[in-house]
Amino acid sequence: MEKIIIEGGKALKGTVRISGAKNAALPIIASCMLTGGRHRLHNIPRLRDIKTMKSIMSKLGVSFREDHGILEVNSDNLTSCETPYDLVKTMRASILLLGPLLARYGKARISLPGGCAIGARPVNFHLKALADMGVDMSLEQGYINASVDRLTGANIFFDLPTVTGTENIMMAAVTAHGKTVLKNAAKEPEILDLANMLRKMGADIKGDGTDTIIIHGTKRLNPAEHSVIPDRIEAGTFMIASAMTGGDIHIEGCRPEHLSAAIKKLRSTGTFVEVNGNGLHVKGTDIIESSDIKTMPFPGFPTDLQAQFMALMCIAKGWSMIREGIFENRFIHVSELRRMGAEIEINGNQALIKGRDRLLPAPVMATDLRASASLILAGLVAEGGRTEVHRIYHLDRGYEAIEKKFRNLGAAIWREKE
Ligand code: EPU
Repeated sequence: MEKIIIEGGKALKGTVRISGAKNAALPIIASCMLTGGRHRLHNIPRLRDIKTMKSIMSKLGVSFREDHGILEVNSDNLTSCETPYDLVKTMRASILLLGPLLARYGKARISLPGGCAIGARPVNFHLKALADMGVDMSLEQGYINASVDRLTGANIFFDLPTVTGTENIMMAAVTAHGKTVLKNAAKEPEILDLANMLRKMGADIKGDGTDTIIIHGTKRLNPAEHSVIPDRIEAGTFMIASAMTGGDIHIEGCRPEHLSAAIKKLRSTGTFVEVNGNGLHVKGTDIIESSDIKTMPFPGFPTDLQAQFMALMCIAKGWSMIREGIFENRFIHVSELRRMGAEIEINGNQALIKGRDRLLPAPVMATDLRASASLILAGLVAEGGRTEVHRIYHLDRGYEAIEKKFRNLGAAIWREKE
């Protein structure tokens, strides 16, 4: 086990390059199972979740090769349709294999992901939509047994826009018989990235990026080459870090249009944010103004930046209110931030934060991926000692070399064995 140590108090300066998006790379790697041949994927981040996805797919017979930073994926010889519980339990996104397996083989045995730290996170919308497409399903020993002769296009309405649900059904629909219409679909940039990959494979998809996606099933797909979009949550995390530390940083290789809500909110705190093509220049201010947020589906403020924005509000002037609109339990970072002196009250899905002049160093425990990032940010401004962040395997699921990137920006941060 490893921990991250931070000696806070340094203003960040310099340039950071953003890695590929975890939440785009995961469905795109899964989509390579839709057809055999050699797919070539660029900009795949080096993360634990990506490793887990590759391990699960290797168990299904998919082979992977890295060639000069390009990931080659070959699913010519699938040998199994079963995803094992011991791997699935570490990563919910393995549910993304259900759509491709049914599309390619008409059957799948997938371990049902359980709840996780941030909420119950059911997959009932995925399953209902697949049932609408003709899939027979039963639950046995915690596994979903699913089978279908041939997937059939259907009119599907999601009660809530679900990101992985939309992705799963898009992958199921691309070779289904007939037309699938997805209503109240998710509009996140990761959906568009998957749609672009699927179109390169020969799929007929329209409307991605709107709440109605229309897919006409095609008989044949071909392997494709694709470069994954940059990670908007990683970019947003560095933006907030610069705002918190009174920094002056350039964020390179991001897509500012994916970050509109975060940019607007940061500007409202007095932070200087300038967009330069695929880059951002973010400069902190002496006095951080407080600002309220409510997390919402894209293009609203992302839930995956809520914990980090809360860390910023902990040192803002005055009171702020954060409403979590996506997950029911995504305030688990609060008790750890309190250990660093933050004043936060929780009432249901609302957090009321009283900004303070400073945060204090402390040993803290990472509880989920984005919670871990908020503790790192808090540690970067906690002066007068060491902040130790434990259980950082959560962090390694979704941030590539985070301590190296912060160190290059001048932070005193390093990793040690527990
Ligand atoms: N929901 C249901 N039933 C379903 C599916 C979703 O009730 O069948 C509910 C969820 O419980 C939640 C809401 O609908 O309240 C939206 O959840 P969604 O399905 O969109 O979440 P997800 O697809 O499981 C993805 C990201 C998350 C991100 C959310 C929201 C991936 C692999 N994961 O999860 O990323 O928070 O969308 O944007 O794409 C992270 O990276 O830290 C992370 C948690």
